Order: sequence, then structure tokens, then C-alpha cells
Amino acid sequence: MRRASSMRQAAVPASRTTTAWAVKQKQPCRDGSTVWTEVRAAGIAELLAAVGVHFESETRLLREAGYPEVEVHAALHEGLLRRGRELAEQHRQGILGLGDLFAYLAYEVVAQHMLKEDRAFFPVFAPG
Ligand SMILES: [Fe+2]
Repeated sequence: MRRASSMRQAAVPASRTTTAWAVKQKQPCRDGSTVWTEVRAAGIAELLAAVGVHFESETRLLREAGYPEVEVHAALHEGLLRRGRELAEQHRQGILGLGDLFAYLAYEVVAQHMLKEDRAFFPVFAPG
């Protein structure tokens, strides 16, 4: 079994006056070490792309580890990204405020998914 590690990501607006975003992502490595990366997204599309990369990486690691619920979890990722893209489009059209979009990312993606639903697979990476 691989060393226990989780992937965490937090997205915060870089400032209140711009739509730039900063994302710090904790990424486990196959050798058991951890690498932190920081992504500065110029806009919401770039931020969602970074979340997509995080989800793809997580899903790949879960498949490699033989996590039995990986396809269910991957479907959750797809749903979160699809909804995020829908909200981003509404924001682009002026229908949805940036605060509402940020609330979705902070609550649904980070608080509900990354901090709760992702916990279901933590035992897969627990030390033997
Ligand atoms: Fe996940």
C-alpha cells in the first residue's frame, strides 16, 4: 500500500477586484512524498481547468490503487465540473455573480467534496 496522503486543493480569489484566482494543490507522489503546487489562474475557466487536472490525477491514483468505487467517484468529479462550467457560463453572461460562483466552488467542490466525500477513499492509502 502507498503511504497515506490526501490531495487537497483550495481556491481563493486573488483579490476582490479581479477575477484572478490562486490555487494551492497538495499532490501525493508514488514514492510517498508530497509535492505542493500553486496555480494562479487568470480566470474562472483556468481555475476550473486546474480543478479538472486535480480530479483526473485523483481518479488515476484511485484506479491504480484498485479503489472499488472509483467510477462512482469519477462521476462525482464530472458532475462537479459540469456544474462549475454551467455556473461559469452564467457568470460570463452576467446572470450569476462572482460571489455565487465562488460559493459553489468553496462549498460544493472544496467543503462537501474534497473535505467530506474524498474521505471515503482515505483508507485505500492508509499505511499497512
Ligand atoms: Fe474526489
